[in-house]
Amino acid sequence: MKRIMITGALGQIGSELTGKLREIYGADNVLATDIRPSEDKSGPFEILDVTDAQRMHDLAKDFGADTMMHMAALLSATAEEKPLLAWNLNMGGLVNALEASRELGMQFFTPSSIGAFGPSTPKVDTPQDTLQRPTTMYGVNKVSGELLCDYYFHKFGVDTRGVRFPGLISYVAQPGGGTTDYAVDIYYKALEQGSYSSFIDKGTYMDMMYMPDAIQAIIDLMEADPSKLEHRNAFNVTAMSFEPEQIAASIRKFIPDFKMEYDVDQVRQSIADSWPDSIDASAAVKEWGFKASYDLDAMTADMLEKLKVKLQKA
Ligand code: SER
Repeated sequence: MKRIMITGALGQIGSELTGKLREIYGADNVLATDIRPSEDKSGPFEILDVTDAQRMHDLAKDFGADTMMHMAALLSATAEEKPLLAWNLNMGGLVNALEASRELGMQFFTPSSIGAFGPSTPKVDTPQDTLQRPTTMYGVNKVSGELLCDYYFHKFGVDTRGVRFPGLISYVAQPGGGTTDYAVDIYYKALEQGSYSSFIDKGTYMDMMYMPDAIQAIIDLMEADPSKLEHRNAFNVTAMSFEPEQIAASIRKFIPDFKMEYDVDQVRQSIADSWPDSIDASAAVKEWGFKASYDLDAMTADMLEKLKVKLQKA
């Protein structure tokens, strides 16, 4: 992996992935692209609307990319508000990125999500290979995407790889329009106001992961020996599963007076209710050595420390 093009580079994952890849592979070997302009001058950047197949192809070709990391997508709650836009952007962007990878012989990564599961999926320790009948547009996109990536591998030999991410938590770029976003918002509000009103109800378990573990998982999977990969796309990965009261309790270990209340958003609650409580990541552990370093309290300690510095600077 030497010349990498990233789509959605200013998004929640992309903004941290770009920096880490530049550290490892060299700033000039990582082309960041996004639909909006960037202020980051750490390496090459181009504006790209991922629904523009020709421009995507041309940028990758001109850059001499041998790897495509396709991160541009709408998250679950936004996709429920604008289902047709989500289909066009999430599926249109994906097929364009896969086509560019096929034409230019690039290795390929894109994330799937716990959103690829639905109400009929086993809820606890959700297996790697299981029933997937999601009821959200985001989930429909993610399952279709998993299948499409498998198809490009089997049909065309494109080296596609991917994981099913749980909710991702980070202090760098905020997510937007996701169901698991409450677990990011809560840290900002804990520091800014000492209290948080959660749009996800108590007792709602979802899998989560701290961003450094997510970025490491992407790098490890892309570097993994392909002969060991029985699955290629959509590996279950997780670091922890918690419900809102547990993240509040973790924050209280550092901010004892932190207060939590609830103002449940029915749209996001029903999305959360359709997702697993906890997923089984043993296939990722076995096939490419996946491991996560941060548990809930380690993540809370790091989030609060880093976010405090960030909010003071702002
Ligand atoms: N974090 C995403 C969301 O909530 C799930 O992949 O939409």
